[in-house]
Amino acid sequence: MRITDTSDLWWKTAVIYCLDVETFMDWNDDGIGDFEGLAHRMDYLHELGITCLWLMPFYPTPNKDDGYDISDFFGVDERLGDFGDFVEMIRMAKDRGIRVIIDLVVNHTSDTHPWFVEARKSKDNPYRDFYVWRDHPPRKKEQPVFPDVEDSVWELDPKTNQYYLHHFYKFQPDLNVTNPKVRDEIAKIMGFWLQLGVSGFRVDAVPFLMDESGVQAPEAELAHPLDFLKSLRAFLGRRSGEAVMLGEANLPRKDQVDYFGGEDGDGLSMQFDFITMQNLYLSLARQDPRPLEKALASRPEVAIESQWANFVRNHDELTLDKLTDEERQEVFAAFGPEPRMQVYDRGIIRRLPPMLDGDPRRIRMVYSLLFSLPGTPVLFYGEELGMGENLDAGTRSAVRTPMQWTSGTNGGFSNAPTRKLPSPLVGDGYSPDHVNASDQRHDPDSMLHFVRRLVERYRSSPEMGWGTFEVVKQDAPGVLAHVLSGAEGRMVAVHNFSGDPATVTFRLSDVEADDVLVDLLVDGQVLSLESDGSATIAMDGYGYRWLRVIRPSGKRLG
Ligand code: NOJ
Ligand code: CA
Repeated sequence: MRITDTSDLWWKTAVIYCLDVETFMDWNDDGIGDFEGLAHRMDYLHELGITCLWLMPFYPTPNKDDGYDISDFFGVDERLGDFGDFVEMIRMAKDRGIRVIIDLVVNHTSDTHPWFVEARKSKDNPYRDFYVWRDHPPRKKEQPVFPDVEDSVWELDPKTNQYYLHHFYKFQPDLNVTNPKVRDEIAKIMGFWLQLGVSGFRVDAVPFLMDESGVQAPEAELAHPLDFLKSLRAFLGRRSGEAVMLGEANLPRKDQVDYFGGEDGDGLSMQFDFITMQNLYLSLARQDPRPLEKALASRPEVAIESQWANFVRNHDELTLDKLTDEERQEVFAAFGPEPRMQVYDRGIIRRLPPMLDGDPRRIRMVYSLLFSLPGTPVLFYGEELGMGENLDAGTRSAVRTPMQWTSGTNGGFSNAPTRKLPSPLVGDGYSPDHVNASDQRHDPDSMLHFVRRLVERYRSSPEMGWGTFEVVKQDAPGVLAHVLSGAEGRMVAVHNFSGDPATVTFRLSDVEADDVLVDLLVDGQVLSLESDGSATIAMDGYGYRWLRVIRPSGKRLG
């Protein structure tokens, strides 16, 4: 790897920031966030140091699933702005060195999409085959994704007396991607937004998009689903050399390589690592890093172009579906003990800081870990401030509250009457009075400044995005020490999952005389190494250290 490769395969050292325009910043005070508001906050994002914005759906929508029910793939929800505002925002982001990727939600449409409105008119309607129909639901019952609301993935359409497939809500009929016309439309959608300047897509619900088992057609007529994924990636590459596909694919390890496109890396460019995320919570609950270590060790080897996307929270429930029942109960007991904090029997609807009882040391340790895990970190808006949730907003809405800018009216998000906001604000200890961007910008000890530093150090440490990962042996239980090595050099990250202070002794190989460890998070701290490469460091309870190996004759900055 050459240092210049970091700008070529830019996603391998990106810092991604996810937001929903609707809840980020309302500029015209109608109560709904808008593109103009986002444009006004571009410099905030630039100061934070993020390099890639992921915008959640902003398309015309009945908004019954927070915009994931799309009625026009080629439009902008007029509550948020128009195409002019969209393009202005993209241009401004580019000027600030920020790429924009957008949600590509093509597993399904809204039931108000003109294709579905047509399709359900009659069995011989030209759009009928855009969706998946059956005379009878198959005997083998498939569990819907939202079992609290739906009891089947098949819904009877009374007019034509057939059932249509919907993996998610019944107002989100699944598209039939075995239909070449649907595939052409998907490519056209991608081409359209690429032309407007986006740098790729966060691809929604990939395993469901690839699942063609509901379609009744002779096997031979179905192209291999993974070929479809690769054809989308190839199309993307033809239209834009830099564009990426970041897949929402909560898969078992055994399927992940295929989704990346195997050795050639010509499938998804990135995949969220749901398994590592879930085991991170198990490790936190147990104050024991071993589940996380195991999850990282179980990552399959992937092509150089492929990348893992790490995250602590996202806009959905904190799913724990890949843990065993007992493990899931442990995490529930630690971080979401009340039934109202849980959802779908598999997830927690809280943000991290309240789950950790607001303990700043522990919260910072987790974000330090997020940025030092091998891969690309993805932040959900407000995480950089330590925002909390509003449990009363209910299920997944709990974490989708307005961004907290100031301690003023509606947290500085909007001057509209509070009842007009897309969601209630957070109350109590995490309310905008206590947690807001404006105050934290002026406080060098704030969470915001801390995350800025992590972003800055991550960006100048390409061994985290590119390098190899190895757990370093040491004796302190509760502590994870790992080394990331790349062409640029090496660093050791040490994290204490326990609240008790610890003394950690580890030994690095290939150390030369006078090599030192420079602390990247605490200014001016330099630790010496013994001639055999060993070092002993004191760790606070929930402490975290990033130590770069610096060779006096080397050129690396400490
Ligand atoms: C996954 C998204 O993350 C979620 O928010 C949405 O409800 C479903 N896909 C359906 O699009
Ligand atoms: Ca507005």
